[in-house]
Amino acid sequence: MAREITTVGVVGIGTMGAGITEVFARNGFFVVGVEQDQAALHRGRGHVETSTGRAVRRGKMSAAEQSQLLERITFTTDMDVLAACQLVVEAVPEHRDLKRDVFARLDKIVTPDAILATNTSSLSVTEISVATELPRRVVGMHFFNPAPVQEFVEVVRTVVTDDDVVEDVTAIARRLGKAPVECRDRAGFIANALLFGYLNHAASMYETRYASREDIDDAMRVGCGYPMGPLALLDLIGLDTAYEILETMYRQGRDRLHAPTPILKQLVTAGFRGRKSGRGFYTYDKPDSPVVVADTATPTGAPPAGVREVRSVGVVGSSDPAARIVENLVQARFDVTTVDVVTPAVTGADLVVEAVADELSAKREVFTALDAVCKPGAILATTSSLVPVIACAASTSRAANVVGTHMVAGVAVDRDLVEVVRTVSTADDVVATVRSVCRRAGMHPVTCGDRAGFIVNALLFPYLNDAVKMLEAQYATADDIDTAMRLGCRLPTGPFQVLDDVGLDTALAIQRMLYAEFPEPGYAPAPLLENLVTAGFLGRKTGRGFRDHA
Ligand SMILES: NC(=O)c1ccc[n+]([C@@H]2O[C@H](COP(=O)([O-])OP(=O)(O)OC[C@H]3O[C@@H](n4cnc5c(N)ncnc54)[C@H](O)[C@@H]3O)[C@@H](O)[C@H]2O)c1
Repeated sequence: MAREITTVGVVGIGTMGAGITEVFARNGFFVVGVEQDQAALHRGRGHVETSTGRAVRRGKMSAAEQSQLLERITFTTDMDVLAACQLVVEAVPEHRDLKRDVFARLDKIVTPDAILATNTSSLSVTEISVATELPRRVVGMHFFNPAPVQEFVEVVRTVVTDDDVVEDVTAIARRLGKAPVECRDRAGFIANALLFGYLNHAASMYETRYASREDIDDAMRVGCGYPMGPLALLDLIGLDTAYEILETMYRQGRDRLHAPTPILKQLVTAGFRGRKSGRGFYTYDKPDSPVVVADTATPTGAPPAGVREVRSVGVVGSSDPAARIVENLVQARFDVTTVDVVTPAVTGADLVVEAVADELSAKREVFTALDAVCKPGAILATTSSLVPVIACAASTSRAANVVGTHMVAGVAVDRDLVEVVRTVSTADDVVATVRSVCRRAGMHPVTCGDRAGFIVNALLFPYLNDAVKMLEAQYATADDIDTAMRLGCRLPTGPFQVLDDVGLDTALAIQRMLYAEFPEPGYAPAPLLENLVTAGFLGRKTGRGFRDHA
């Protein structure tokens, strides 16, 4: 029979615990919030007061409702008060021994039919459960940050968790207005297993100076419609928490792509733990504030030196990006000449954008022809996503004037993204000029080096490939994975919907290119993706992919 749950305990009132406390209290539960000492308790209470105060200011809650909510919470440093709880959710830092110690203590305090849940993001729930006398009442209840806002909860069942424990926790999650998905006890569960490889890769792109933090974040926001860039998200999660999650995932799976990139450890050691400490990848006006302030790495906004004048633009080819680029340029009143093949019509252009088929020999031919007809000093740009920009540059006698302009049509935003790709030969003023043209044409430029996938595809496609591997391993269904990423990580669409829309063949081609340049086992294309492409299941365009389409 389902348990009647009226009083819930939360242990650890930090980033997550404060949000979890608020969610339960908002939904009419009595909550006992436990912290390790008075200072942390004061901070935890402050988090809940600030967050609910914000809801009052925004008209989402009345002042009377706020005080009733706060009255339902008992803040204490005494764990024994948890004896009255039918469910306790643990949200202390991501350290196995600490969590096991907390569970061993909880086990002796609560009644035998009380449920003990852990909010761990990556530790083994089974290992935590066996610190108690009754592992069958232990379950994972993984909320997402910020808990009051994120609708998704992973309910993690171990091999010994009782069915009725899973059922009760699932029902409670629904009462909180969340969408629970049940999953098994595996590092990272669904959402983090897919999210953290992506976050780690973004951090390593920044660490290797492949692109600036602003450009990495803007690329994913503008190009993929993600609500936050990966580095800003790492700051929100907390770099210490992110480090521990990656470290645990790496220890369990030995996938090198999960080995925390060194800058995470360096930032944490320096005390830069993200928003909660006021500094991480970005600097914030005070601890726990979302307001980013300028620091030494912030771009000045001053126009870079040496921007060349561009009035006339030639566009060669009639691909989709070509049409979109022409539309943007014409709207911005550039003098635009479009041609299908290279002709003397583009001789006088200050900038020529090549947008023919994404294939090496076709691109080389166009660049050799452009080099012959274009005026000296004209900038030549390629929209290539699969062919290295340097291969185009090497087909000309003006490599310093050749640049990549990979356009990604904006998703859920009103601007298109242009990855301005600098090769080892591209001159600084060429990059500055093309960035300035993009801005004038209402597009958002980001700059990166000439590496497979540039920023967006290099971050996006390995994550999509990982989702296919997760489906292939029968860990979760395509629907559950899409739900996890949409609701848990607030991505505009789940990975399988993206794959069906982009085309499985396109996804496979990009993943193969990434694997050829970065031969990490984790980048190997998922066999299921290969098989579906071979069988002609290419997604929406063929009516069948991971799902059937009309
Ligand atoms: N931060 C995220 O985005 C996120 C998201 C989902 C899940 N989680 C998971 O939630 C858990 C907590 O993470 P966080 O980011 O909130 O960490 P945090 O460091 O912000 O908060 C942890 C809190 O636990 C308190 N604490 C430590 N030892 C304690 C003890 N013995 N008794 C009572 N309180 C104690 C600390 O004082 C601190 O306030 C971790 O397991 C983490 O993996 C985090």
